[in-house]
Amino acid sequence: MKVASVVGARPNFVKLAPLSRALRERFHEVIVHTGQHYDYEMDRIFFDEIGIPEPDHHLGVGSGSHGRQTGEMLARIENVLMKEMPDAVVVFGDTNTTLAGALAAAKLHITLVHVEAGLRSYDRRMPEEINRVLVDHCSDILSCPTKTAVDNLRREGIVDGVYLTGDVMVDAMNLCMEISRRSNVLERLELRPKEYILATLHRAENTDDEARLREIIGAFQDIGNSLVFPCHPRTERRLRDLGLWDSLRECIKVIKPVGYLDMLQLERNALRILTDSGGVQKEAYILRVPCVTLRDRTEWVETVNDGWNVLAGASRGSIVRHATGFVPTRPQTHVFGDGDASRRIVDLMESFLSSRRGPAR
Ligand code: UD1
Ligand code: UDP
Repeated sequence: MKVASVVGARPNFVKLAPLSRALRERFHEVIVHTGQHYDYEMDRIFFDEIGIPEPDHHLGVGSGSHGRQTGEMLARIENVLMKEMPDAVVVFGDTNTTLAGALAAAKLHITLVHVEAGLRSYDRRMPEEINRVLVDHCSDILSCPTKTAVDNLRREGIVDGVYLTGDVMVDAMNLCMEISRRSNVLERLELRPKEYILATLHRAENTDDEARLREIIGAFQDIGNSLVFPCHPRTERRLRDLGLWDSLRECIKVIKPVGYLDMLQLERNALRILTDSGGVQKEAYILRVPCVTLRDRTEWVETVNDGWNVLAGASRGSIVRHATGFVPTRPQTHVFGDGDASRRIVDLMESFLSSRRGPAR
């Protein structure tokens, strides 16, 4: 049976890495890359470093407004799916690529698998929230990373096809943990373990809101030279436009986005992590590094409930206070599974698709 995995943005690639391995043991997989991300550090480095197979189709959509980008992807993915006619399409997370892949599959009546289903921040102003809700409502197999995700879906009346599989990001970390220990990123950046704070920042609610962005950047400047900031190209562009780029670079270590192996090494050795990323909040939790989230809400509520993540919003004072003093005091409840999510998803797909085909004649 043939499966098409649709990816296009950095977090999609990380989630695809372990699933693609598991899929290829039992399915013929084709990879469709929308081209949503395209800079070397946002795209190619993940394929080169963590062994994701080459995409079979590269759609070259690139950047644009939400409607234009999603619409272009939808049209081009549909063309590919009509040619390939896979038995199932797999989409990951909550990006515009995820939504376009899901709509294209659903309209062609192809079985749709959503990896990382059921997440909710309950903030419809986040583009990711719209994507998650829509994709979940047209999926056939919903792979939930946590019990909270299963409960969220039930509240929306989605119960069929919902499975608690654990989180494929645990699988990805297991796959890459040993090799990431060989990364020399600390030496390259002249960093000592547990003597620096790692920051990432790219979500639209922060980069596109000048007041919030200025508060957060002010906090980064207050924290000063212990801060290492692999900067997303979206954020770099905004900071340059606002005239904040050069002054920030004088106060803290601003670097290009790093590959996944360097990222795991930077995360593992950080004293604390400041982030508005979904994936980085989870990785901080799994690596037992205290996390300060630069958002007002999070969909990864367990990390906050367990006391390993704190929501600092975009308040300069609160960010600085937590960045310098936040210490978790409770043990973790290990909510993201045991690292076997990919195999479970493939099992579910196999039995779902076999039952649809009916008994062999
Ligand atoms: C997207 C996802 C977001 C995810 C993030 C991961 C959506 C709606 N958002 O946000 O959920 O957390 O990816 O990183 O899908 N750009 C470049 N080079 C690139 C990619 C982007 O310069 O390789 C710049 C462009 O100016 C572009 C901007 O970043 O307009 C935004 O890129 P886009 O893919 O639209 O959204 P992200 O902010 O990356
Ligand atoms: N990541 C990375 N290099 C970076 C920043 C992030 O490899 O410079 C990885 C990170 O470890 C995680 C994933 O990218 O696995 C998260 O993606 P991102 O923060 O872009 O998106 P989100 O999870 O917020 O959708």
